[in-house]
Amino acid sequence: HLLRCTDYTGLPLCPRLSTSNPPFLPCSAHIERYTTMFQTLPKIELHTHLEGCAPPSFIQQLASEKNIDIAKIFAADGGYAFENFDHFLQVYEAACTTLQTPEDFRRLTFAVLEETAKHGVVYMETFVSPDFCGGGDLVAWRDYVAAMEDAATEAEMRFGITLRGIVTGIRHFGHESCIPAAHCAADTFGSFITGYGMAGGEMVGRPADYTRSFDIARDAGMPLTCHAGEWGGAAMVAETIKHLKVARIGHGIGAIDDPALVQHIAETGIVLEVCPGSNVVLNAVSGWDAHPIVKLRDAGVKVTVSTDDPPFFHTTMSYEYEMLSKTFGWTQADFDAVTETALNAAFCDDQTRQRVAARLG
Ligand code: HPA
Ligand code: ZN
Repeated sequence: HLLRCTDYTGLPLCPRLSTSNPPFLPCSAHIERYTTMFQTLPKIELHTHLEGCAPPSFIQQLASEKNIDIAKIFAADGGYAFENFDHFLQVYEAACTTLQTPEDFRRLTFAVLEETAKHGVVYMETFVSPDFCGGGDLVAWRDYVAAMEDAATEAEMRFGITLRGIVTGIRHFGHESCIPAAHCAADTFGSFITGYGMAGGEMVGRPADYTRSFDIARDAGMPLTCHAGEWGGAAMVAETIKHLKVARIGHGIGAIDDPALVQHIAETGIVLEVCPGSNVVLNAVSGWDAHPIVKLRDAGVKVTVSTDDPPFFHTTMSYEYEMLSKTFGWTQADFDAVTETALNAAFCDDQTRQRVAARLG
């Protein structure tokens, strides 16, 4: 029956389509075909965490090589097990204890890029935290960066995906801990490390407490991003913009509750790194159809789409696209628009931007 159909992105539409909500639900016989279709669209993602891209099997392998007992972070099916955001952060930190040497990061970076490239991602930015490199071995920071860059260069040749790193302070480790992280960022700012940011628990301190680390990175000429409004609501987003003067916001979905703030974000061109699947799994929103990404975009905000921590949140870029298509009826034009926004908002140099643009076809 495929031949009799047309669909929202050019592929034949299954005649057994559900007309209920979500509007475009292919029958199960076609799910695989649709996934493949979304898989091959060229994509850019600006918001991933390198450690959070580690598959459970990778972390389990490192744990057994080093005799570290972290069995409690895994569910019976071998996936990561967590109940809520705070628990997620604990599980995340436990997984990071297995990442000890630059060689561990070389292996991780290569494995992540091989997997991500399978979903059509041609350019990816990833947060990496000095606090999670060998348990915070800041003296050896340059060796960790060299190992990641090495793996990224090899993966670019093999899989046609470019990676850039954003050094990240961990907010719930306190603002004092973000200052050395920002110095690490400034010391390695260059071809691979291209930005500074902050992740971690949001309800800790006020954005104003963290200005010093952002000032250090800004003074070094680095572009800036900060997680805000994943949990903290519109006020957190507003304060982050005011005090930290970032070009991009990680998540930022809480802004939706303040129309004046949404208008400000739209007018200033601050880019939101939206991670819908992450928000759904962590219950930052009640479900896909409650996600504000379309409302934000329609209010003129520059939105992009990313996975955050794919194996933790059971997502991939193909799955994000599939769900945006099913939930909101996104078509090729919608995907092209987020890709263009992401390309322009990427923290890489313009030569890299042009090379990536050529891969978008
Ligand atoms: N939010 C904040 N911190 C994080 C996340 C996230 O989704 N993932 C890894 N660190
Ligand atoms: Zn994140």
